[in-house]
Amino acid sequence: LRTKYLSGVADAADEAALEELRLAGLGKKGEISLMMRELGKMSPEEKQTFGKALNELKNEIDAALREKKQALADAALEARLQDEWLDVTLPGRPRRQGTIHPVSQVMDEVTAIFADMGFSVAEGPQVEDDWHNFDALNIAPEHPARQEHDTFFMHRDEGDNRPPHVLRTHTSPVQIRAMQEKGAPIRVIAPGRVYRMDMDQTHTPMFHQIEGLAIGRDISMANLKWVLEEFCKAFFEVDNVELRFRASHFPFTEPSAEVDIRCSWEGKQLKIGEGDGWMEILGSGMVHPKVLEAAGVDSTQYQGFAFGIGIDRLAMLKYGIPDLRAFFDSDLRWLKHYGFAP
Ligand code: PHE
Repeated sequence: LRTKYLSGVADAADEAALEELRLAGLGKKGEISLMMRELGKMSPEEKQTFGKALNELKNEIDAALREKKQALADAALEARLQDEWLDVTLPGRPRRQGTIHPVSQVMDEVTAIFADMGFSVAEGPQVEDDWHNFDALNIAPEHPARQEHDTFFMHRDEGDNRPPHVLRTHTSPVQIRAMQEKGAPIRVIAPGRVYRMDMDQTHTPMFHQIEGLAIGRDISMANLKWVLEEFCKAFFEVDNVELRFRASHFPFTEPSAEVDIRCSWEGKQLKIGEGDGWMEILGSGMVHPKVLEAAGVDSTQYQGFAFGIGIDRLAMLKYGIPDLRAFFDSDLRWLKHYGFAP
């Protein structure tokens, strides 16, 4: 009996087998338990020798069961440890971190600079209706900017009578929306994407602008000049800039000026404020009375300036990037080269 149980315990492969053995021997109706019950029928002498032996056997089996149970648990733990072994001293696998795209970064910088001058941010839709993009800005139907070759028009099925929509060709429609929403006086900038059918080294069909608008009772061209100079000093991180206001024409400003900045190239490095070169950086002017009226602002009481800056162009200048198209290739090697990716 002793051999049977002890070798049984030794051979048991798992806890279930052990439990089966325990029940067979030491359970209520187990072999050994039944024999214990027989003791009552024996003479005192028999009881003493037999009972003692039986008790010892019982304890021995019990101890063997417990020991084996512990051994099985240890083995299971050991197996798991082997299985799930993790070397915490290994160096971590590097994780690539995303970075800010140069255009986004310049947009943030420009927004922050104008925020310091009291401009808040306004927004408008990229799919804009004809009226906000053109009519309200005093762009007549026969104006070249409206022709198919410049503007992306949204397709309309025959019988679809919704007003015509376009991919906005500039951020200027946000001037209209901001004035309609907030009235005058107002001071906002509107960064965003704009679209024109154009593609070469310095043009992509989608690009970015920041519109500026300041309307008040006595805002003048002098204020425009100061704001733009302060902006350029902050953006290009120089103490002095020289701007040239060149007479120009936009339907939505009168007078209008294109603004150039004095600069020169030293190899690939742009020097702002020195040399004899001029680089055009933005269009601007005094907001046309018709535009104020279209947006519901009383043009006999209010006046002000507006400007539109090409963000991508600014980024090219600041970071010495020769080809605008590369901005939108999502080529990590290119981004890395200009320090925009790790
Ligand atoms: N909207 C003009 C453009 O896209 C820029 C501009 C904005 C000019 C505001 C004057 C005033 O070229």
